[in-house]
Amino acid sequence: MKEFTFSNQLEDLDTESKYLVHKAKEATQHAYAPYSKFLVGVALLLEDGTVITGTNQENAAYPSAMCAERVALFTASSTHPNARVKKIAVVARKKSSKDLTPATCCGACRQVMLEYENRQQQPMVVVMQGQDQRWIVASSAASLLPFGFTKDSL
Ligand code: THU
Repeated sequence: MKEFTFSNQLEDLDTESKYLVHKAKEATQHAYAPYSKFLVGVALLLEDGTVITGTNQENAAYPSAMCAERVALFTASSTHPNARVKKIAVVARKKSSKDLTPATCCGACRQVMLEYENRQQQPMVVVMQGQDQRWIVASSAASLLPFGFTKDSL
């Protein structure tokens, strides 16, 4: 399987990915981002069909904030500890707009994705929109974090 595939428009993604992007976009309305005004929404699909969403949660003490991806993954791990994550879609918009703006996962979120991917011994597909507006479908978390730190290092 190729590490990455690219689509110039959302319509070109598969039905499952489009649905997750839609759920992630819907979730952005629950982001708590009064400081950055950058609303991030995530929808992840578990193997049993459950969709779990997450949004970024900011704080007046800035470093206490949490990214949407980790909110969603930690929720999945807490509420469905044995279910594998098949796919995760990440989107963002500015508070002033209804339209999506490009956003790719930060390094810390990639690290957390990698941990869960290794734990479930199955790749999780990551869908997000790059700076060039193209949709990126990464076949695994590992592809987004080459030479990542894992339990094998300990
Ligand atoms: N943010 C995420 O939720 N996910 C990312 O992968 C990158 C950034 C959030 C953190 C902060 O609330 C806002 O976006 C601006 O950085």
